[in-house]
Amino acid sequence: MATKTARVETITGSSHMPDDTEAAAGSGEPGASPRRVRIPVASVRADAPQFQIAAKNPRRAEIVAGSGFLMAAVGFAGFGAAYWQNYSNFWLAITFSVGFGGLGYGMVIWGKYLMPRGPFSESRHSLAPTQAQREVFIEDFASRGKVAVERRGFLVKALGLASGILGVVLAFPFIRSLGPLPGKTLRQTAWRRGSYLVDITGRRIKTGDLEVGGFTTVFPPDDIGGAYSQTMLIRVDTPPASGYLTPPPQFAKQRATWAPQGYIAFSKVCTHAGCPVGLYQELTKKMLCPCHQSLFDVTDAAIPIFGPAPRPLPQLPLYIDDDGYFRAQDGYDEPVGPGYWERGND
Ligand code: FES
Repeated sequence: MATKTARVETITGSSHMPDDTEAAAGSGEPGASPRRVRIPVASVRADAPQFQIAAKNPRRAEIVAGSGFLMAAVGFAGFGAAYWQNYSNFWLAITFSVGFGGLGYGMVIWGKYLMPRGPFSESRHSLAPTQAQREVFIEDFASRGKVAVERRGFLVKALGLASGILGVVLAFPFIRSLGPLPGKTLRQTAWRRGSYLVDITGRRIKTGDLEVGGFTTVFPPDDIGGAYSQTMLIRVDTPPASGYLTPPPQFAKQRATWAPQGYIAFSKVCTHAGCPVGLYQELTKKMLCPCHQSLFDVTDAAIPIFGPAPRPLPQLPLYIDDDGYFRAQDGYDEPVGPGYWERGND
């Protein structure tokens, strides 16, 4: 049990407990006499055994506790790295356990061996201290802080390091749960400059493969069957003397050479809700989306003339190489499919 020393602080005067008058005198209340009183204060001296730390070798205990914190720092950092690299739950559990194990170990060692070992007990007494008792207590408290509760800079820094890393690492799941960054995938398809137009079997398409009014679905060779790359190639007409289908006036300059030999290609991904625009009416030269009946005018840059689609189908610029194969001049110049971002051609 506690070793409690009855420390009698000599303020002045008698040796009995203060009555109300004396307390008032000690508290400096208006009208109180300046007579000082003798107040017994139960206290523990700073050199009492309770205030000694338990460690026989404090330096060694400090190193051991610091090792725990450093181990925690390594564990938490390892957890962050494992999470970032998508390691298995096994490694997440191991590193997290090492982190918290080290943290707990360090705190236990610190508390058990480097703090006043106590125990401290005090018999119940009046909870309201007099002014004089307060002063004695403050004096005692201040003196204790200088003796046993030492500042331990190394431990504080090591604990701060472990806690700091833990704080950063705990933010990882929130960041990761947002999913991978989309990069350019929202704006680009697999079509690139020079991509061959191939059908679903991988066969390259060349001039003469389609009759006038014919159409087929084409892909770039490295994304055959790709949902975002699917493109409708249509042989709209015999070419005019220029060799190219004439674009509408607003695209006269940009798209002058995009539709060689009467062939033209548009994205099949409907700009309404993303269904494949898989139907083509030869007589009216319109593409039809079967989902909600959006109708796109092939001779007018695939502008929607009916239905809920809000914008034209993107056009793939074509050219014919020396061997007669269709190839892409470049990728689509705008994102395909339904859009939620601002578009230049709206
Ligand atoms: S998805 Fe094409 S019209 Fe709705």
